[in-house]
Amino acid sequence: MGYCKQQEQEQEKMMKQVWVHGPIIVGAGPSGLATAACLSQHGVPSLILEKSDCIASLWQHKTYDRLKLHLAKNFCQLPLLGFPSNFPKYPTKHQFISYLESYALHFSIQPKFKQAVQKAEFDTITGIWRVQTQDQEYNSRWIIVATGENAEPVIPEIAGMEKFNGPIIHTSVYKSGSEFKNQNVLVVGCGNSGMEVSLDLCRHSAIPHMVVRNTVHVLPREMFGMSTFGIAMALLKWFPLKLVDKFLLLVASFTLGNTDQLGLRRPKTGPIELKNVTGKTPVLDVGTLSQIKLGKIKVTEGVKEVTRKRVKFMDGQEKEFESIILATGYKSNVPTWLKGCDFFTKDGMPKTPFPNGWKGENGLYTVGFTGRGLLGTASDAVKIAKHIAEQWMTNKDCNKSSPFRNSTDNYVDPSTHWLSKIRGWLLKNEFQ
Ligand SMILES: Cc1cc2nc3c(=O)[nH]c(=O)nc-3n(C[C@H](O)[C@H](O)[C@H](O)COP(=O)(O)OP(=O)(O)OC[C@H]3O[C@@H](n4cnc5c(N)ncnc54)[C@H](O)[C@@H]3O)c2cc1C
Ligand SMILES: NC(=O)c1ccc[n+]([C@@H]2O[C@H](COP(=O)([O-])OP(=O)(O)OC[C@H]3O[C@@H](n4cnc5c(N)ncnc54)[C@H](OP(=O)(O)O)[C@@H]3O)[C@@H](O)[C@H]2O)c1
Repeated sequence: MGYCKQQEQEQEKMMKQVWVHGPIIVGAGPSGLATAACLSQHGVPSLILEKSDCIASLWQHKTYDRLKLHLAKNFCQLPLLGFPSNFPKYPTKHQFISYLESYALHFSIQPKFKQAVQKAEFDTITGIWRVQTQDQEYNSRWIIVATGENAEPVIPEIAGMEKFNGPIIHTSVYKSGSEFKNQNVLVVGCGNSGMEVSLDLCRHSAIPHMVVRNTVHVLPREMFGMSTFGIAMALLKWFPLKLVDKFLLLVASFTLGNTDQLGLRRPKTGPIELKNVTGKTPVLDVGTLSQIKLGKIKVTEGVKEVTRKRVKFMDGQEKEFESIILATGYKSNVPTWLKGCDFFTKDGMPKTPFPNGWKGENGLYTVGFTGRGLLGTASDAVKIAKHIAEQWMTNKDCNKSSPFRNSTDNYVDPSTHWLSKIRGWLLKNEFQ
């Protein structure tokens, strides 16, 4: 056995262990909260481990001030408790956060904060999940991955980026355009973040230049006074996907005009089909297009190279910029901590396609990895809770009479748990 492996095992042996009564949920974002709420409705306790110091850390720490939900609120509410009726159709991020806080309060969800899961592995000998944070090892029969599709920013490698004199930030740390007044700002990326940040910069008298290196579908947020997303969902119940795509594009061309002329070339595949095939989200326009038409937001080609003060583009043009904002999206972090399990792709997304990606093997579940935003989260959470509750009920008597159950906590010190005792003995005797 290698020295490092041996050291790692020694460390694991010394790490304080706790047995969790119920599933371990990794992540206290909307997905983790929704699943904990659904489980509690079935009478199943759970423990959420969250690396940050608050619930919904993406929304609290990594989003810009002006952000509003771009899907109507009925598509963004979590199961069992809807948005307050006085909320507008498109709640602000602050309203969404306050909704999530009351949601957690309502279902008495108390995540364990500042617990970054560094490693989680299924122990085939004892049949339990061993979930390690920086402080402790948590053990359970079930693990629910709720760390999100947007866990880490994607930072592209652009030639010469390290030479640039000004700030280069990702949209996850961008708060407001007020810091960029009168500056030439390069926004790399034209997804929803790139479009909305460009609009925000424009409203703060900066001069944004948005990099569009590929084709992109832009749709109006609303059609005929109704949410475009809602219309699409309703039509899909009755009509084939390609026809719905044709309809969306027809209405989009009436309301937005020909986006190709603005440098935003449409893909050949329709918006919903493209989303289903590649996961690429269409942009819902909240005012950016009109600023592009007015020339207040410039659209540029892909970046070739960055120098100390300037940026060279693929079409040979060159321009001086004071700041660069990377609106280059996000990625899952699952492969960094979930070990010995081939349920996920190397990009940290379930290999099993929607709608069956919520359930893995050996008590592994995933919530919020459907590419369908909060609507996908809600449907995953309901299914997972039902599935675990069935197992929980089967073992009800065993669970009720468990000598390890603690009345105030849903986890107990597993040094007293028989599974841990066996595992301790196996480790001691190197039966790994
Ligand atoms: C700017 C922006 C706007 C969006 N707007 C919408 C919208 O309007 N409608 C919509 O449906 N979707 C929207 N989305 C998508 C959005 O990410 C999700 O809908 C929602 O936040 C997903 O919730 P989640 O709980 O799955 O993931 P997250 O909200 O990302 O929560 C995951 C949690 O897991 C924690 N975590 C991560 N790794 C670990 C670890 N190793 N150990 C412990 N904890 C960990 C994180 O700290 C985080 O708190 C938006 C995304 C962005 C970036
Ligand atoms: N109001 C809202 O509700 C709201 C606001 C913002 C975001 N969101 C959601 O948040 C999620 C993430 O959105 P996002 O916009 O941050 O990410 P995204 O949708 O993944 O878009 C990333 C963009 O960056 C571009 N890009 C990546 N690397 C690049 C490079 N090296 N050079 C040039 N361009 C590059 C991509 O172009 P290619 O296509 O060429 O790869 C794409 O345009 C989405 O689900 C989105 O809907 C919602």
